[in-house]
Amino acid sequence: MSDEPKFQALLRDQIRSEFTASQQYTAVAVYLDAQDLPRLAAHFYAQSIEERNHAMSMVQYLLDTGQPVVIPGVDDVRNDFTSVEDVVRLALAQEKIVTEQITRLARTARDEGDYLGEQFMQWFLKEQVEEVASMSTLLTVVQRAGENLFHIEDFVNRELSRSAGTTDPTAPPVAGSRA
Ligand SMILES: [Fe+2]
Ligand SMILES: [Fe+2]
Repeated sequence: MSDEPKFQALLRDQIRSEFTASQQYTAVAVYLDAQDLPRLAAHFYAQSIEERNHAMSMVQYLLDTGQPVVIPGVDDVRNDFTSVEDVVRLALAQEKIVTEQITRLARTARDEGDYLGEQFMQWFLKEQVEEVASMSTLLTVVQRAGENLFHIEDFVNRELSRSAGTTDPTAPPVAGSRA
């Protein structure tokens, strides 16, 4: 396997990262649901599905380009949250790590002269800019709200639920969505 392009190996690792992110956001959503924060919980349930879609669009890319596909297990996720701020900090840290991973994938594709791979990663770069920005904003709102968690619910309801139902027409196809 040593002559396999590095991009392909990294992309397979990334499928695991995206599935793990999905599982982590499910844990986050359930914690928030138990804290009686239904709007914020709904936001993270939706994020969990988005992360699964990221993984499954990478699966679709491997299928479309005739490369071997393996569906991995996921890494352990955290459930021992202490506060809403703790949760959002974790989510922001996760998105920053994914941004580094996606950037490395794009750089590797370019270094290897893999134009298809480079093109495929472009949407994910844009997506990470949005996800880090929106999670940073959410962290600021959570910190500003302090003890008043209704402010957070109100913010999510006003600002974040709008984008949740809309599908991005530029998003890459997701395996299984054509079934
Ligand atoms: Fe993702
Ligand atoms: Fe994400």
